[in-house]
Amino acid sequence: MTNHEVLPLLDQVADSVSQVIAHARPELAGADPVVRRSEHADFQSNAALALAKRASTKPAELAEALTAGLTDDHGPITRVEISGPGFLNITVPDQLIWSHLAARLASSRLGIGTPNTGQRTVIDYSAPNIAKEMHVGHLRTTIIGDSLARVLGFLGADVIRQNHLGDWGTQFGMLIQYLDEHPEATWHHDELEPGTSAVSALDELYRAARGLFDADPEFADRSRNRVVALQSGDPATVERWREIVAESEKAFRDIYDRLGVLLTPENSVGESFYNHVLADVIDELTEVGIAVESDSALVIFSEEVNGPDGNPAPLMVRKRDGGYGYDTTDLATIRYRIHDLEADHLLYVTDSRQALHFQMIFEAARRAGWLTDDIEAAHVPYGTVLGPDGRPFKTRAGGTVRLMDLLDDATARARAVVHDKNPDLPADQLDQIAEQAGIGAVKYADLSNSRIKDYIFDVDRMVSFNGNTGVYLQYAHARIRSILRKAGDPDVAIDSTIELHPAERALALELDAYGTALADVSASLEPHKLCGYLYDLARDFTNFYEACHVLNAEGPVRSNRLALCQLTARTLQHGLDLLGINAPERM
Ligand code: ARG
Repeated sequence: MTNHEVLPLLDQVADSVSQVIAHARPELAGADPVVRRSEHADFQSNAALALAKRASTKPAELAEALTAGLTDDHGPITRVEISGPGFLNITVPDQLIWSHLAARLASSRLGIGTPNTGQRTVIDYSAPNIAKEMHVGHLRTTIIGDSLARVLGFLGADVIRQNHLGDWGTQFGMLIQYLDEHPEATWHHDELEPGTSAVSALDELYRAARGLFDADPEFADRSRNRVVALQSGDPATVERWREIVAESEKAFRDIYDRLGVLLTPENSVGESFYNHVLADVIDELTEVGIAVESDSALVIFSEEVNGPDGNPAPLMVRKRDGGYGYDTTDLATIRYRIHDLEADHLLYVTDSRQALHFQMIFEAARRAGWLTDDIEAAHVPYGTVLGPDGRPFKTRAGGTVRLMDLLDDATARARAVVHDKNPDLPADQLDQIAEQAGIGAVKYADLSNSRIKDYIFDVDRMVSFNGNTGVYLQYAHARIRSILRKAGDPDVAIDSTIELHPAERALALELDAYGTALADVSASLEPHKLCGYLYDLARDFTNFYEACHVLNAEGPVRSNRLALCQLTARTLQHGLDLLGINAPERM
């Protein structure tokens, strides 16, 4: 296999149109040739309509001139027809289409290049809070962040994943004090009943501690002293804290393993990691005059964002009691990612309610001179997961939905639909496929929605074999794999002289556009564009398979069609993998 890049036909056509534009009308050189896929031909260029005015001519005239140029040209174009007021309908040679497919099949990267090479991208995602259960709110950041890490990494970026765990803060003083005063409380992994996790036990104990803190002023005092002990490094307290962090991380790891996300323990760089540099960061911000005293606290007043009272909104650098919070840590974090990790691309995947927080962190980092113009920082926000009633997703009792329960539910339902479809699957295979289908369904349902929108968590719809679902795509892949197995999984060669059937053509052009879909994801940070692409691809395959015999065809027609099957299966599997979703061989 090679790893040669294959330029998409669309890009080649666009290059040709650009050259002809520059030749026919030098004043338009460099203008967008506005080339898209078309229903009426292979591609369409709307350049004549878009540019006529600038060239002081009529669209029809410019269309004529471009057509003449394109027909004389020896580029990738066989035919140009003008339609309507000046659309150019462009057809490319069959031979060229086949040769593109052959080159993609021969490539271990499906002919996709590495346009993000040279970029160092830090992606901040997942970031659950220690001693608190991961809930449905952490699902989206974990899934979206992981998919972006995969796509950008595949496109050549040097991706550094950062799990900014909430592992520091005054709440730990309260919890540690409570645990010490209640030695009978069980919360260690190995003391718990199977199915319950250390974080759920800690979550409950924390609630109890909080209740006591509010009710008993003496306990509140002891807790405050415990915070001081933790922050000043008292060994016994720090040891306790470490234990709590380790037990919580074990529980998070169970979820990560089940979701199949890339996050490893080395990616855990929590809030506590920045503790020893906070004072230094604050000195720096104070020296350059960005951080100022206000009401005995140290704050940075925004020049961009106003608070609800109409005054500049503050970032809290040091609280009145001398403590540091979420804002301080994020200031230290962005400095670390720029200066120590040497990132030139910073992504923060958190829910949309944190938009102002990150806007103000970026603003402060810019004013401090850390975030320079050659570095791109972006908050990657997402909407809320809603229950069937259209309200934020809660359990029937109104509590937060545990992520583990939600995954169990999805895999159980996936098991039922897979069993219905394929009653002969042996139980162990069924279990494995149900897990892949259930987890895939949850991930796909999340990723296939436009990121910023809220969506309704509807398990029955997610695990359906019909519609734009993960299960539909996994099934499309498995069906093609079964066709290929029946054919004996041959190594096929493509004969480029065979005329393309219209359904083959539609599928082939879609296959050729995989890299374009990935580039769209990279530019917009919207994984749903990849979902949409894969869904279209699966439908193009279905149309092809209905219109064209594969196994019953003969000679080079059969080989070419098997090649289309192979490339479709590989593209589906690859695309699902970039979404973090398995593509089982059977379903
Ligand atoms: N732990 C936070 C939460 O659960 C998310 C942290 C996001 N990352 C960051 N650098 N602030 O909401």
